[in-house]
Amino acid sequence: MKKKLKVLALFDAIAPTTLGQDLSAELKTEDWKTEANVLGALAQLGHSVEHQAIFDDLDLLRQKLASFAPDVIFNLADQFKNNRAWDQAIASFLDMQGVPYTGCGSTGLTLCKHKGISKKILGYHRIRVPDFVMVRRGSRIARPRRLKFPILVKPLKEEASLGISQASFVESDDQFRERVAFIHERYAGDVIAEEYIEGRELYVSVMGSLQLRVFPIRELVFREVPPDEPKIATYRAKWDEEYRKKWGLQNQFAEGLDAALVARIESTCKRIYRLLTIDGYARIDLRLTAAGEVYFIEANPNPILAEDEDFAQSAAKAGMTYPQLVDRIIRLGLKTVRD
Ligand SMILES: Nc1ncnc2c1ncn2[C@@H]1O[C@H](COP(=O)(O)OP(=O)(O)O)[C@@H](O)[C@H]1O
Ligand SMILES: [Mg+2]
Repeated sequence: MKKKLKVLALFDAIAPTTLGQDLSAELKTEDWKTEANVLGALAQLGHSVEHQAIFDDLDLLRQKLASFAPDVIFNLADQFKNNRAWDQAIASFLDMQGVPYTGCGSTGLTLCKHKGISKKILGYHRIRVPDFVMVRRGSRIARPRRLKFPILVKPLKEEASLGISQASFVESDDQFRERVAFIHERYAGDVIAEEYIEGRELYVSVMGSLQLRVFPIRELVFREVPPDEPKIATYRAKWDEEYRKKWGLQNQFAEGLDAALVARIESTCKRIYRLLTIDGYARIDLRLTAAGEVYFIEANPNPILAEDEDFAQSAAKAGMTYPQLVDRIIRLGLKTVRD
C-alpha cells in the first residue's frame, strides 16, 4: 500500500478569501467542477486533505503552509487577482516555498502561454507551426505580405478562446486591421495573427517526467458546420451548450487515424512537451490537414482536469480511473525536480 499524504488543494478565487474558508457552496457550482472532482478523488484515495483558495493574498497561503505542512500541493490555482497571466508566478512562489506541487512549473507555463515564443521554439526544431505575425499593442497594424489569407487573429496570451469568434477569421486587409485593433483595445494586450490551418482539430493528452505517456487522441468535430465554413473552437464553441448543439460540436475520440499516423502524432507531441519544458500533464492541440500534415496550434499545461473534460476522458480510455489519475499526478509532482 502506498503512503498516505498530506495534500493541500490550492484553488484560485475571484474575490478575497480567508484561512479555512468554507467553500461548500462554491464547490457545488459548475465553475468549481474541477476542484470538486479533484477533492472527491483525493478523499477516495484516503489522503489527508485540506484546501485553500487564494485571491491576491500570498501571506494567506504562507500561513496555510506553515500550519498544515503539506507533503504536496495540488495546484489548481491558474489565476491571481483575476489575472490569468500570473499562473506562472504562483508556481514560482511555490518553488520558493520549497514545497512540491502538481502540474507544470513556471517556465513551461510561461512558454506555452506566449503563443509566439512557443511557435518560434517549435518551428526552430522543425515542428510544423502556422506562419504568424505578432502585432504589439500601440504599433502600426499592417499585415506582412508573406502572411497569406485566411488568417486567424487571436490575443497573444489569452486562454479558453477568450477573444476568439467567427470574426477572428479574416480574409482581407480591412478585416485584418479591424480585428487586430479590436483585440488590442478589448483585451488590452498584444495580438498574434496566424495563417488559418484547415483540418481536423485534435487534442492530445500527455503526462510524465522522464518517461512520457500519451493517451488516446480526442477530436472536436463540427458535425453541422457546412464544409466551406471555417471550423474554429471559438469561445461559444467551447462554452455555450446551445451553440454546440446547434452546430453539432462534439468532443469525442478521434476515429479512423491509422496506427502509423497515431505514432507520428504521439512522438511529435512528446517532442513538443519536452521542447516547451512542460512538467506534469498537458493537452496539446493540433490540426491535421487533409494531406496528413500535423500542425501545432497550442500547448495547454495544466489543462482542465474535470472528470468529463478531454484530459481525464483520454486517461480513462487508457484504463486509468479518475482517482488513479489524480494519484499519478500527485506522485509525479512529488518527484519532479524544478529548476
Ligand atoms: N492557426 C490556426 N488555424 C486554424 N485554427 C486555429 C488556429 N489557431 C487557433 N485556431 C482555432 O482556435 C481555437 C483556439 O485557439 P487557441 O490558440 O488554442 O486559443 P486558446 O488558448 O484561447 O484556446 C483552436 O482550438 C482552433 O480551433
Ligand atoms: Mg486552445
